Amino acid sequence: MIRKCLFPAAGYGTRFLPATKAMPKEMLPIVNKPLIQYGVEEARDAGMQQMAIVTGRGKRALEDHFDISYELEHQIRGTDKEHFLESTRQLIEHCTFSYTRQVAMKGLGHAILCGAPLIGDEPFAVVLADDLCLNTGGDGVLTQMVKLFNQFRCSIVAIQEVPADQTHKYGVIAGEMIRDDLYRVHSMVEKPKPDEAPSNLAIIGRYILTPDIFGLIADTEPGKNGEIQITDALLKQAQNGCVLAYRFKGRRFDCGTAEGFVEATNFCFEAFHGK
Ligand code: G1P
Repeated sequence: MIRKCLFPAAGYGTRFLPATKAMPKEMLPIVNKPLIQYGVEEARDAGMQQMAIVTGRGKRALEDHFDISYELEHQIRGTDKEHFLESTRQLIEHCTFSYTRQVAMKGLGHAILCGAPLIGDEPFAVVLADDLCLNTGGDGVLTQMVKLFNQFRCSIVAIQEVPADQTHKYGVIAGEMIRDDLYRVHSMVEKPKPDEAPSNLAIIGRYILTPDIFGLIADTEPGKNGEIQITDALLKQAQNGCVLAYRFKGRRFDCGTAEGFVEATNFCFEAFHGK
């Protein structure tokens, strides 16, 4: 049973400046819902109730979002706008939210390690909120991954095929295909140039990790861009035991880029708000 989901959310969001100057990038809305809420709902739908968020300076809006606003409640109670608060009310009722701060930006692996005190000794999910993953009409991506975890009991990364000239943006895996949508990982490289990429299968921001990953991250030296990379720790885990890579069902939008952000906005408007 996976009960906890970790959200690394300390990054500065420099690609979205000036919008992210005084506002966390995870609060950027896709139509009327902030990115982080899509991620939390995906985790909740996959059966997780404990949300662990790794924040940093200037991220307080995240905490306020997952809390009651008494003034707002008072203002709109009994009006026709009340339903706008329903989705956050449900999350606040059904989930707990814990926070810790990543004091220095030392990479995704380091951010995940900062979350260790909130996770403890149990398997957990990781969501990178700027990868928006939607599978309208079917299981969310984390739900798909939890089902796999229950079968295989090892770390799992979500993957997607990308064009060869895009591998430098992702962790890229290679492995033995054990089902048409599932690989046992043999190698893994963080942001390789096309001629150094072991395949075109890119890691997307959804992970299920077994807790031994924390020790492996702690022993991982800074890698690509001088940062402690989760990809490097996962490679050790794959070499010691087993890591799976799962080609998920659904769509993924890279909301860390303007193009992906606009695409996601148009998609969500059509899917959830279109008449
Ligand atoms: C991170 C990971 C990378 C992964 C990507 C998915 O990179 O380091 O392995 O493919 O997320 O979005 P970032 O986009 O944070 O640079």
